[in-house]
Amino acid sequence: GAPVEVDIAGMAPGEMRTVEWRGKPVWILKRSQEMVAALPKHDGELADPLSKRNPDELTPPYARNEHRSIKPDVFVAVGICTHLGCSPSTKLSPGAQPSLPADWPGGFLCPCHGSTFDLAGRVFKNKPAPDNLQVPRYMFAGDTKIIIG
Ligand code: FES
Repeated sequence: GAPVEVDIAGMAPGEMRTVEWRGKPVWILKRSQEMVAALPKHDGELADPLSKRNPDELTPPYARNEHRSIKPDVFVAVGICTHLGCSPSTKLSPGAQPSLPADWPGGFLCPCHGSTFDLAGRVFKNKPAPDNLQVPRYMFAGDTKIIIG
């Protein structure tokens, strides 16, 4: 499939967009400063906080960092659960859903079997999903233009 170009110039902090790439949903989340700052706080609750598992498939070299992205405030991920392929829903804010813990830091919840992911797509421990969400191949062409694929 052809690469997909996305201009994120108008995106506000906390805003998320979904584009299609190779028939898959790709999320682009413009993280707020608070969202970026909160990422390390939950490392102890994550199954693979440093994205060591299947890095060739899931985490390109430029995303092997705490925020799993090229720029800390711009998160790009394939929105498909690594368990059985459902599409997780966005639960950005605390208290987004009663089934989420009271101290929910914001992230994504898979409706199929309840896997939860943080705002870097890292899966929480003891969930059916074995791996973090995939970060696709992408690059920046200028400050606000992302090329996916
Ligand atoms: Fe997401 Fe099973 S498909 S938890």
